[in-house]
Amino acid sequence: MTRDSLTTYLKLCTEFYDLDKPHDEQGQEFQFYARYCKQACGPILEPMCGSGRFLIPLLQAGFEIEGFDASVHMLDALRYKYERLYGASAKPPVSHAFVQDFSSEKCYELIFIPFGSFGLIIDRLDALKSLEVLYRHLMSGGILVLEIETLASYSLAASPWRYGVHTRADGAQIVLNAHVSYDESAQLYEAACCYELVVDGSVQQRETEFFKQHLYRFDEMDELLAHFPFSRVKKYQNFEKGEAQDKGSPLLIYECIK
Ligand SMILES: C[S@@+](CC[C@H](N)C(=O)[O-])C[C@H]1O[C@@H](n2cnc3c(N)ncnc32)[C@H](O)[C@@H]1O
Repeated sequence: MTRDSLTTYLKLCTEFYDLDKPHDEQGQEFQFYARYCKQACGPILEPMCGSGRFLIPLLQAGFEIEGFDASVHMLDALRYKYERLYGASAKPPVSHAFVQDFSSEKCYELIFIPFGSFGLIIDRLDALKSLEVLYRHLMSGGILVLEIETLASYSLAASPWRYGVHTRADGAQIVLNAHVSYDESAQLYEAACCYELVVDGSVQQRETEFFKQHLYRFDEMDELLAHFPFSRVKKYQNFEKGEAQDKGSPLLIYECIK
């Protein structure tokens, strides 16, 4: 069965994302994953790699890494950045796939999914299927590193409206207006987003997206991971690898060894 194409991370969203979250090789998040890459003695996979915020600098650093993503727009942005670095005929080691459906004959020494992206797989059965896919593509002794956002990452603000604007190199603006909410029973953070391309004060393009992210209970991922025979699972609450004890931690990082 082939999955429908992604209805989020469209063109304007991708442009906004890249301006909002530039590459940051000195940042603690990047350094955290780069350390795992240094320790890996074989191929590395970054599912949900997006426009290559992690993947491109890791390729530049010489790591044997490849990635995939379900958004053609995020992948186009990644390819564009890669071609600017390595020339128009250079092809980055990435493909279009959903985690749930990904299949390769290759196995990896390290698989990592940063930035809470795994929560974008909002259905429990899909999440289990995705974990099965990730487990299957790990070498024996290989490591899966998974970062998730928890219920504690959502705080009720005075207003449900969010506004953001970024200016492109050509002077055009990408404007985001979003209405955010939290569905407690479904544990879903939801945002109805409207992205607009504004040139000389007039709206040239408009895209709407309905963003949903599953926020995890403190022990929920432990329950999902227990379906798979990992030889060891460690759970951290920050990028300094502090052992996860604080049930109010907004993020959790799992290090799972096959
Ligand atoms: C928040 S972005 C993170 C991208 C990148 N890891 C980063 O930190 O910049 C989440 C990415 O997950 C991708 N995505 C969402 N659901 C997916 C799925 N089921 N399979 C593969 N990719 C998915 C989106 O297209 C998007 O590029």
